[in-house]
Amino acid sequence: MVYVTRKVHFNAAHRLINPNKSDEWNEKTYGKCNYPNWHGHNYVLEVTVCGMPDKDTGYVIDLGVLKNILKERILDKCDHRNLNLDVDFLKGVIPSTENLVIHFYEQIKDEIQKHASEGSFLYAVKLYETERNFAEYRADKI
Ligand code: NI
Repeated sequence: MVYVTRKVHFNAAHRLINPNKSDEWNEKTYGKCNYPNWHGHNYVLEVTVCGMPDKDTGYVIDLGVLKNILKERILDKCDHRNLNLDVDFLKGVIPSTENLVIHFYEQIKDEIQKHASEGSFLYAVKLYETERNFAEYRADKI
């Protein structure tokens, strides 16, 4: 199989908070990430599509098409936004890196499937919150 990846960047603010828990629990669990007045990250997002190249085009997926899908479905909604307040598909979600990769995956998988070569699929969504901290969500099957 061939694994094709597009990497994009966005900046966003967030706060880790579970509204069902006490202030004390939130402070203890999330530390600085729970500060009331938000904080920002320079996120790096890597999206990998997996499959065999189309016989006519030689592509697993046209990277220009993938770029547009990421722009419309993720970047236009998240870049320079507050992930707790501004993003429709993140309403009620604690915006940890773990939760973000799951929701980003769901946000783009069908559109990618539609445009990728036959049998190809969205393999992985990897999100760097910092250079050292990142999470990845992978399809466990085709
Ligand atoms: Ni944070």
